[in-house]
Amino acid sequence: MAAAPLTMNAPELSIVVPSFNESENIPVLVDRLRTALDGINWEMIVVDDDSPDGTADVTRRIGATDSRIRCIRRVGRRGLAGACLEGMLASQALFAAVIDADLQHDEKLLAPMLAKMREGATDIVIGTRYAEGGSTGDFSSGRKWISVTATRVANLVLGRKLSDPLSGFFMLRRAVVEGIAGELSTHGFKILLDIVSTGGPSLRIAELPYTFGLRFQGASKLDTRVAFDYAGLLLAKATHNLLSLRFIFFCLVGLTGIGVHFAVLWAGVRLFHLEFGWAQALAIAVAIATNFHLNNQITYRDQRLTGVNYLTGLMLFYVISSIGAISNLSVGTWLFGHEQTWWLAGLGGAAMSVVWNYAVSSLMVWRR
Ligand code: GDD
Ligand code: MN
Repeated sequence: MAAAPLTMNAPELSIVVPSFNESENIPVLVDRLRTALDGINWEMIVVDDDSPDGTADVTRRIGATDSRIRCIRRVGRRGLAGACLEGMLASQALFAAVIDADLQHDEKLLAPMLAKMREGATDIVIGTRYAEGGSTGDFSSGRKWISVTATRVANLVLGRKLSDPLSGFFMLRRAVVEGIAGELSTHGFKILLDIVSTGGPSLRIAELPYTFGLRFQGASKLDTRVAFDYAGLLLAKATHNLLSLRFIFFCLVGLTGIGVHFAVLWAGVRLFHLEFGWAQALAIAVAIATNFHLNNQITYRDQRLTGVNYLTGLMLFYVISSIGAISNLSVGTWLFGHEQTWWLAGLGGAAMSVVWNYAVSSLMVWRR
């Protein structure tokens, strides 16, 4: 095997920049990084989710004359956490940092962060808005309240006091992520919280304050979906992955099904004078259909079925729910034979069918 002609060291620091529609911000960020990281062996990895505004092209054009700049273009996928993870895993530097593309994070903090990492006693340095010397800048009072509250809840779940666990600005020893990559969620915004909670109490964490700036160009992508994902992540962490937010929503939808069932049954018997058997059958059919619709709208809103898929999904959901009802009946009867407590047997049967319906429909009806 021929020896490598010359030694070219991998960068010491990879700057990972998640981006969605940031074409006007990337060139400015590159300029600022060149200044802020003067004298450091760095590279920048933009992880772009196929932005329609051509962010990937803009990045590659800069990369054509500066090989430190490159772009990972992901197609058919969205998600800040997943993008950050993918960027860090594409790096072979000793250290990786994550910074937003919109210039809200102060790039002048990167050099002090690196200095801290080089000392060797730290695994993660977090850029914090909530410690002495930091600030959220021009946050509206509403957003500030939400941010502070979300921070408190995060600390409860982490069982560790961090001033800004929701920060999107941090630097870490890349090996930290390499070791836990398979366990991290790729949904939502809160990659740092996930890394800290999955990495556990042995992680050595330092904080450096900065002031959160104004977005330079373009619009924020934080929306209700992001809040929904955040609640889901907290719940999963708090229950050690036993409960997912999806399962909770599935159960709540199931409860509304009971209401629908009795409303239809009442109307059938009292208003339309149907025979009980027919009214009961109608109530079951309507309750399953409304459950399907609500799950499609709420529980699986991120993979909503439409058109023909909606109809075939509904049919499949009918089949699955019928098997669920039979298992409900048999488990209930079996329990009643042992316990003789009607409500306990009923509850056991219902729990059995909910778990069955959830597990099978998430595999077959709303499969990705
Ligand atoms: N690849 C990719 N995919 N990037 C994304 C996506 C996505 O789905 N969604 C957002 N981004 C990128 C944006 O282009 C930007 O560079 C960065 O992630 C942050 O997104 P913003 O939409 O600007 O978020 P923000 O400013 O409202 O939220 C900031 O503050 C939060 C805490 O209050 C971010 O720093 C968050 O990371 C932080 O948690
Ligand atoms: Mn922003």
